[in-house]
Amino acid sequence: MTGSLTGLELFHKKFDLPLPQVLHTEAPYYFRRDDLNQTEEQFVAHCVAELEAMIAREGADTIAAFIGEPVLGTGGIVPPPAGYWAAIQAVLKKHDILLVADEVVTGFGRLGSMFGSDHYGIEADIITIAKGLTSAYAPLSGSIISDKVWKVLEQGTDENGPIGHGWTYSAHPIGAAAGVANLKLIDELNLIENAGSTGTYLRTSMQEALADHPHVGDIRGEGMLCAVEFVQDKDRRQFFDAADKIGPQVSATLLAQDSVIARAMPQGAILGFAPPFCLTRDEVDTVVAATKRAVQTVLPG
Ligand SMILES: Cc1ncc(COP(=O)(O)O)c(C=O)c1O
Repeated sequence: MTGSLTGLELFHKKFDLPLPQVLHTEAPYYFRRDDLNQTEEQFVAHCVAELEAMIAREGADTIAAFIGEPVLGTGGIVPPPAGYWAAIQAVLKKHDILLVADEVVTGFGRLGSMFGSDHYGIEADIITIAKGLTSAYAPLSGSIISDKVWKVLEQGTDENGPIGHGWTYSAHPIGAAAGVANLKLIDELNLIENAGSTGTYLRTSMQEALADHPHVGDIRGEGMLCAVEFVQDKDRRQFFDAADKIGPQVSATLLAQDSVIARAMPQGAILGFAPPFCLTRDEVDTVVAATKRAVQTVLPG
């Protein structure tokens, strides 16, 4: 079921997914828009129209929830175009459809705000959380449930009470202790503010260093997330073939030449950065210079 909820083709292909009851609507990926003449505003209107059409086709009463990440993570590190969340929420409210914000990546500071929901004014009915909660030093995940949803859950059933489910490691004290320690440090060291300000410096420095490169089509990010998307032909926005393995080549070169770790994102020729929140400006300069070198090595401009 969760393999169906993601839009990652890699997972779909390996497991005959998505299951038929999970439908995907247009992802708010402005750089990949079909119509290159569309402004961000027009693209948002297109995403809204696609969602409205799907709801009309399926029937609002048959839809359990809309699930989305505030910023697409593994899908390519893609912040939404301006106004996307406000417009999508208006549609969901109109049809009384629940909104689940998957904040496994964006929760606890990644965007320079405590939650992606705060960042974009999203009023989610459920928020999923994991990675940032302990900075992954120990496993811990959870869901934050709104009053509206909890009021239904707490009625439970006569046999099973409020949540008729159990997990082997529920509420494990080691994970919880790591979470508390981690969140205390995030507060004390002002790391969310640093994720916002140093993250912006990372993105603008990357843009200064690489925007003019003939094979760099897009440099984007939000907070301490940054991505560089490569294209075969910049003017015609022609993408590389997956078989060219541009992302993995640049990522491997970056590691070999300068010991910098960046991820080759699975959905295209995209290099993704998600550095620790304690990153300094000097370290940004090192990362950006190394990235420029690796890009020049793989794609001499
Ligand atoms: C946005 C997002 N949601 C969910 C998950 C899966 O989370 P978990 O492993 O806690 O189930 C991931 C994993 O990388 C993720 O990036």
